[in-house]
Amino acid sequence: MGRWVKAASLSEFADFPSYRASLAVDVEGYDIVIFKLPDGWGALDDTCSHEYSELSSGEVWNGRVYCEKHGSSFDCITGEVSGLPATEGVSAFPVEQRGENVYIQLPDYS
Ligand code: FES
Repeated sequence: MGRWVKAASLSEFADFPSYRASLAVDVEGYDIVIFKLPDGWGALDDTCSHEYSELSSGEVWNGRVYCEKHGSSFDCITGEVSGLPATEGVSAFPVEQRGENVYIQLPDYS
């Protein structure tokens, strides 16, 4: 089922340019990057599956984030890899805006 946790405030995205509309957050020990997209939100594990660079440092274009280290690209919503050299995707988290806040769904406590 998962549990919804507040991860950010909408105001934290106010000054981002569209090519870097991403915010790195630590939510209960999960390093997550949240993307503010033209038509919604995305949230991924902030660690590139290639050599572990932070995806939050990459550029965002057309719904994809491009890792700044070697250029792999990932779908900002699904985490699927769409460009080499990475060959595996990254974990995606459900994310939604509720009023002035952004919430992420984390796994249940085990
Ligand atoms: S670390 Fe991201 S593409 Fe290499």
